[in-house]
Amino acid sequence: VLSAADKTNVKNVFAKIGGQADEYGADALERMFTTYPQTKTYFPHFDLAKGSAQVKGHGRKVAGALIEAVNHIDDLAGALSKLSDLHAQKLRVDPVNFKLLGQCFLVVVATRNPSLLTPDVHASLDKFLCAVGTVLTAKYR
Ligand code: HEM
Repeated sequence: VLSAADKTNVKNVFAKIGGQADEYGADALERMFTTYPQTKTYFPHFDLAKGSAQVKGHGRKVAGALIEAVNHIDDLAGALSKLSDLHAQKLRVDPVNFKLLGQCFLVVVATRNPSLLTPDVHASLDKFLCAVGTVLTAKYR
């Protein structure tokens, strides 16, 4: 469960990311495809080469969903309901993959803002990304 302090920490991180969220999203995807190549199997219809327009476009979508989640941090299930249906019922992404993308996003935040991720902020962002993953995999039945 996200504490009040976690929510503040997460909002501060996204305020810092600001208008660059699209790039963070694309970087996280690129990192995920490189580090965990099995995740590429969900994107057979994408050009996954470095700098691909499709990866950039998808990074924008993922970042947009994360921003939406931050803006509705007290109702993640409501804010992500449609995406939850999509990932569970149509895309059928194995839940393990959400942890992988979440970790990659964390690494992108850390590398781009070395001083931002104090242990407390790191823990809060990790909890938030896990909570998003839990919502997106909640309808697998
Ligand atoms: C599509 C968000 C994790 C695979 C999408 C879309 C969004 C999104 C916003 C676009 C939906 C639309 O077009 O209406 C997220 C978020 C994630 C996440 C916020 C976790 C933080 C994952 C993971 C995988 C995955 C871990 C697989 C490794 C896909 C695929 C599509 C998709 C295959 C469809 C792409 C296309 O054909 O355009 N996701 N996603 N997602 N997602 Fe996710």
